[in-house]
Amino acid sequence: MNPTTLLPSTILMNQVDLKTLIQEHGTPLYVMNESYIRHQAQLFKASFQHASFQTEIFYASKAFLTLAMVKLIEEEGLSLDVVSLGELMTAIKAGFPSQRILFHGNNKTLLELQTALKHKVGLIVVDNPHELDLLMSCLTHPQDVLVRLNPGVEAHTHEYISTTKHDSKFGMSIYSGETIEMIERIHNHELLNFCGLHCHIGSQIFDPASFQKEAYLLLEFMKKLKEKHLILTSHLNLGGGFGVRYTEEDDPFDIQIHFKSILNFIQTTCDAFNLDYPRVSIEPGRSIVAQAGVTIYSIGATKTTHSGKQFVFVDGSMADHIRTALYQAKYEAKILERPLVEPQAVYSIAGKACETGDILIHECALPLPQVNEHLVVFTTGAYHYSMASNYNRLLKPAVIFVSEKEARVIVKAQTIDDLLGLDVV
Ligand code: LLP
Repeated sequence: MNPTTLLPSTILMNQVDLKTLIQEHGTPLYVMNESYIRHQAQLFKASFQHASFQTEIFYASKAFLTLAMVKLIEEEGLSLDVVSLGELMTAIKAGFPSQRILFHGNNKTLLELQTALKHKVGLIVVDNPHELDLLMSCLTHPQDVLVRLNPGVEAHTHEYISTTKHDSKFGMSIYSGETIEMIERIHNHELLNFCGLHCHIGSQIFDPASFQKEAYLLLEFMKKLKEKHLILTSHLNLGGGFGVRYTEEDDPFDIQIHFKSILNFIQTTCDAFNLDYPRVSIEPGRSIVAQAGVTIYSIGATKTTHSGKQFVFVDGSMADHIRTALYQAKYEAKILERPLVEPQAVYSIAGKACETGDILIHECALPLPQVNEHLVVFTTGAYHYSMASNYNRLLKPAVIFVSEKEARVIVKAQTIDDLLGLDVV
């Protein structure tokens, strides 16, 4: 399914003309194809199934979370991974069933743990021994937990979004004695139920073999727990990280084929290791929402520098689009009024923030942009709104959901009053 359709004089999302949204809501504007998100949720659910295992899909909230998004995830029957009080309370406020919430984080506070317990979340993923002490200090009832492990798998992605090299801050190494001690403490605690293992090897991963390697190392660890320590493991959570297409350089693997083969691999490895089949889960974030989203900007000045570099300035910035500055991420964009016109030159798309690194797209082939035309940047549904800031006191844009039936605001644009509302003189 394509989230957008290019016509000679505009771009449609479902049947909605993006130009009409600008008239109503202005720019910058995040627009997300709700039908596409539902389609992805259904595709993941249908593909991540196996006759011999129970499976579960936790949508990783950090990619994009609002009350409306929580409702969508609930309606589509996915579970939810949260990592902070804010994400947890967004889920609770939207009425999400707490038994389907999994609580992550490498430094959960006492308040976060207490709140997770109060709302009876389904699973808490313990990251380290200090966190376990905190959890034990505030337990009021039995709690299912997973332990986050670091198997040191090298997934080929940007250093900042790779999470399981040996020096990563996340989880406990499978090679450390401390990890076994921590699991034994959980196993022996009368109110804690040690369910199993969690790992997330990184984000925007294109090689399915990395997930196979991860699964193998975790199953090997499960075997060791069983044989050496007599501890059984009922859950195996492989995290998220499934890559998506930002530009034509990206070549994501086929979810349907890959999920089938990883689940079959887990089955044969369990058989070989003499392990009972665990409940297997994943935590996709980006792959559910990234391609659903576009950001629309108004084009302002253009400038050719003394050295010949051609800039196009837009009315947004790194405050609503940080991924290029942070990860050298690449994007594609079109002029909304002329999406099918052949490009004439390669431009750098820059924002209005006071920062030389405020570049949205370093090399963007476009027809000569005109003042007051609009630029549509594609694949901005994940880690854009959720990573937006108020740098330079710029305001966060609204978010619109476009379904088959309607376009509706799911987050209002921030106002100057909102911005000043927390200041005290
Ligand atoms: N589970 C855990 C434990 C995670 O840490 C993450 C992402 C996910 C699941 C979801 O990964 P996904 O399927 O979305 O790749 N801000 C960065 C991405 C950071 C991801 C952090 N953890 C970016 O914009 O690329």
